[in-house]
Amino acid sequence: MLVQPHFIVPGQGIADPIDAMPGIDHQSVDRLLETVARDVDLGLRSVLLFGVPEPAQKAPDGRAAWAGDAVVPRAVAALRERFGDELVVMTDVCLCAYTDHGHCGLVDHGRIDNDGTLPLLASMALAHARAGADVVAPSDMMDGRVEAIRDALDSDGLSHVALMSYSVKYASAYYGPFREAAHSAPSQGDRRSYQMDGRNRREALLEAELDVAEGADILMVKPALAYLDVVRDLREAFPHPLAVYNVSGEYSMVKAAAARGWVDERLVVLENWHAFRRAGADIVITYHGRQALAEGWL
Ligand code: PBG
Ligand code: ZN
Repeated sequence: MLVQPHFIVPGQGIADPIDAMPGIDHQSVDRLLETVARDVDLGLRSVLLFGVPEPAQKAPDGRAAWAGDAVVPRAVAALRERFGDELVVMTDVCLCAYTDHGHCGLVDHGRIDNDGTLPLLASMALAHARAGADVVAPSDMMDGRVEAIRDALDSDGLSHVALMSYSVKYASAYYGPFREAAHSAPSQGDRRSYQMDGRNRREALLEAELDVAEGADILMVKPALAYLDVVRDLREAFPHPLAVYNVSGEYSMVKAAAARGWVDERLVVLENWHAFRRAGADIVITYHGRQALAEGWL
């Protein structure tokens, strides 16, 4: 049920704390292997990988995102080799950490080029899948990306690789700490032309229907806490496995309040997780996973 996200950086021997996300580090692949080995022993058997490239690697089209020797494919291959089928390896597919402007797609005269972005996302997903990812998870919110990725995987003999779509992803202030962690804040403008309007409920069903028609295997709602009605809507409308993303801002708020002794961290985390399950989520992507298992909260 629990998926632990990781932020992977180039280099060796690196485990640098992320200021806005206490308990979560930037890690190089060698350190990631050590962390995941401990997590697997705790029973935490699924990971979601985010690459954080060097600033010098960023480009207008985010080309480092689909390099076969980039940090994410290298991490996937190393995890696969070390853990085999013990571990479910999921990868985030989006360009924003790799583009110099920080947007999730190509930018053309101040506008997002939705269709021009699709082949780039497909190449990125392909690089992850070829390295051995079990699940690729597009978070960019371009229309048509599920189909583009599915086609690319199938044509490459990778029809067994599953696709978890960030189907319902709202433009949210709760992503703040993540953007610090992934160095992926847009340098100009915001993401409201491609991410969803938090005031809109029915559009969630439309987005999910499109993803299902295009071949998504797992649907996701993100953020989690402020959108539990949407989780319930999807649970009732689709038989697909449903994930929620308990995002960085939700995590950091709990950590900050708990650090001051203002809330009981264990009880608040469990209350949030129970709410996700009650709303209908099967899969919970959460930064709290390791601590909860290590400290026997469940
Ligand atoms: C990149 C991406 C984001 C998150 C996951 N993938 C940030 C964004 O869209 O700005 C957010 C995760 C979190 O806040 O924990 N597209
Ligand atoms: Zn993005």
